[in-house]
Amino acid sequence: MAGIINPWASHQYKDYAKLRDEFGIEEFSFDLPDAPPIFRRGVIFGHRGFNRVYRAILNRERFSVLTGLMPSGRMHLGHKMVIDQVLYYQKMGGDITIAVADIEAYGARNVPLDAAKDLALREYVRNYIALGLDPGRARVYFQSRRKAVTDLAYILGKRTNLSEVLGIYGFEPSVNMAHLFAPLVQIGDILHVQLDEYGGMRPTVVPVGVDQDPHIRLTREVARRARTYSVKKTEEGVGVFVKSGDAEALLVRARRHLEGRFSEFDINIPYGALYVKDASSLEEVEEIILRADREENPYAFYLPASTYHRFMTGLTGGKMSSSDENSAIFLSDSPEMARKKVMRALTGGGQTVQEHREKGGNPDVCAVYELYVYHLERDDERLREIYDSCRRGERLCGGCKKEAANLLESLLRDIQEKAAAVDDAVMREFVEM
Ligand code: TRP
Ligand code: SF4
Repeated sequence: MAGIINPWASHQYKDYAKLRDEFGIEEFSFDLPDAPPIFRRGVIFGHRGFNRVYRAILNRERFSVLTGLMPSGRMHLGHKMVIDQVLYYQKMGGDITIAVADIEAYGARNVPLDAAKDLALREYVRNYIALGLDPGRARVYFQSRRKAVTDLAYILGKRTNLSEVLGIYGFEPSVNMAHLFAPLVQIGDILHVQLDEYGGMRPTVVPVGVDQDPHIRLTREVARRARTYSVKKTEEGVGVFVKSGDAEALLVRARRHLEGRFSEFDINIPYGALYVKDASSLEEVEEIILRADREENPYAFYLPASTYHRFMTGLTGGKMSSSDENSAIFLSDSPEMARKKVMRALTGGGQTVQEHREKGGNPDVCAVYELYVYHLERDDERLREIYDSCRRGERLCGGCKKEAANLLESLLRDIQEKAAAVDDAVMREFVEM
């Protein structure tokens, strides 16, 4: 269906730039200090609203990171890539929250709640710690067990309606109600971290695959609608408008908050408008007004930012997916098994060695090359050399795979050793049950 991204369909996207333009996603080109390679290799290719989080990182301000996992299959390298991002944000001072989407898995994938719980603990949470997440500064929770999340889903449900949700997701009338409600629970996930009891209003980033963009768009829209004020550029400076309620009291409050920073105001109560004539930055006024709003409105939130990563190509050609054993390298695969999968992988190599030598390979469509890009080669120079020598036909698939398999083996051994050593008490501290 044109014009719709379906978060529950499983397919590989081809043209990310086109997707980005079609849906108004912005190009990701931030120069993040000490960031892992995926941030600069085009793997994280798009964002919404990341500028504010970027500023928070540079200025060492508070910010929050929220992501979620669907507990419906084993954890593979594609999932690890999200955690690599989370690890980076944690290092930069972000506070981390991870939602186990057990309600969504139940509604959309028929996974019973207790099975989701076992799977999440065994396959995901243990590996998060093994990968280096500091459980002291991160929390994992289950959608079905955090009342603030489901409450928020209901409350903010007021800010959208059935026709909008049908339009975004293309649901059939036969959709079960738990599935239909999943987008609202995800809105609850994303925004609840800004409630007072979960750390208060602060910039938030949601690192996800681009299939999640419909949820992000809806969440940002709903958050915008939940605000008491709207802020717009006008001919008379930046305009602050009251959407409903006691215009006079609200405008006076807005002005009080703005006075420390600006001094030329024009207030028009019948119009529900306050003009800040000496303001030029919309964002600056918006942020001050957000704090004014929050005095009385617990649902005034920073619009959550998002970043979008590409999906890993599966070793069998399609998307790397838990439902196709051979397409994915699971973190719990034995190193021997992982080696076998790599050695059997589809590559961008020529049909024969001779053809490969003559015409060169195509790393741009090669799942093995992607392993280097995403996980195995941290050094940009050496990655470049792999790319170029493949293109020149000098690097052959057999040796290239062996090298990748060796690196992967030691990566998996390391993760598995650490996972085995994770203490149950640490898990309990990390997960809210
Ligand atoms: N819908 C996500 C998925 O299919 C899981 C998820 C639930 C999530 N809540 C979230 C992701 C909040 C990011 C933020 O994988
Ligand atoms: Fe892929 Fe390596 Fe073969 Fe090039 S040489 S096509 S990168 S496996």
